[in-house]
Amino acid sequence: MTERYAVFGNPIAHSKSPKIHSMFAKEMAQSLSYEAILAPIDAFEETFKQFVANKGYGANVTVPFKEQAFALCNELSELAQLAGAVNTLSVQADGKVRGDNTDGLGLVADLERNLGSLTGLNVLLVGAGGAARGCILPLLNAGIEKLTIVNRTQAKAEALVELFANYGTVNALPISHTGQSYDLVINSTSSSLSGEVPNISGDTITDKTVCYDMMYGKEATAFNVWAQAQGANQTIDGLGMLVGQAAESFFIWRKVKPSVEPVLAQLRAEL
Ligand code: ATR
Repeated sequence: MTERYAVFGNPIAHSKSPKIHSMFAKEMAQSLSYEAILAPIDAFEETFKQFVANKGYGANVTVPFKEQAFALCNELSELAQLAGAVNTLSVQADGKVRGDNTDGLGLVADLERNLGSLTGLNVLLVGAGGAARGCILPLLNAGIEKLTIVNRTQAKAEALVELFANYGTVNALPISHTGQSYDLVINSTSSSLSGEVPNISGDTITDKTVCYDMMYGKEATAFNVWAQAQGANQTIDGLGMLVGQAAESFFIWRKVKPSVEPVLAQLRAEL
């Protein structure tokens, strides 16, 4: 029987994951199915358990269930533990559920695809929510020199610094600090969704700075439009991160790594 995979979320109708994973499966000649499952807001765990009972082998998890997915796991990867959230569930032969978090790996893979090695970069991370937390360890592991975290609510940036203090050079500054520029500025906030831009100073960006917005859209995101106006060297949106995290999940389940580029090109064309 074809092995079943799925993405769980609420809402989920517009998820690109079924398309991404079926393209991966075709490329890698893997016999599997991948569907989108709308879990009721108050019944994620129940819905996932039903899926497992019906030959579900693995799942992606998106908003708003990543913390509940974390809570139901029997085992967690180090990345998932530190992220405090799970986007990839794998049902093991003994029925135990393992949780991984591939969001940060997807970000790093997309950055490296665009920029080459991240070794030695001085990085500004804007935002201190779940998306920020999930990418800190992967960025540090990729060899960046220093990570500065800023957030509208500064105390949340400081809490993340405490959490990751033993993993690399991480510090927090006020969001609108001046007099400091960066090699790479990553916007992990959801502000682009409402057309807003976090209140960071334009002098964080020089003509050598690369700016990355985890959001994406048909048009440049509000953050990337702003970054271009500040004279950024390059702006990148988060569509490649989305395909990258999917490729990492596919690898966890199937032990083969599909190609990101053709899927990314197709999704870009369909935006
Ligand atoms: P996610 O899982 O997507 O990170 P989250 O955990 O709710 O979602 O975090 C949202 C992040 O975006 C937070 O860092 C939030 O800042 P606060 O902690 O101060 O709330 C940030 N954010 C959302 N809208 C923003 C805006 N318009 N300007 C600046 N930051 C914003």
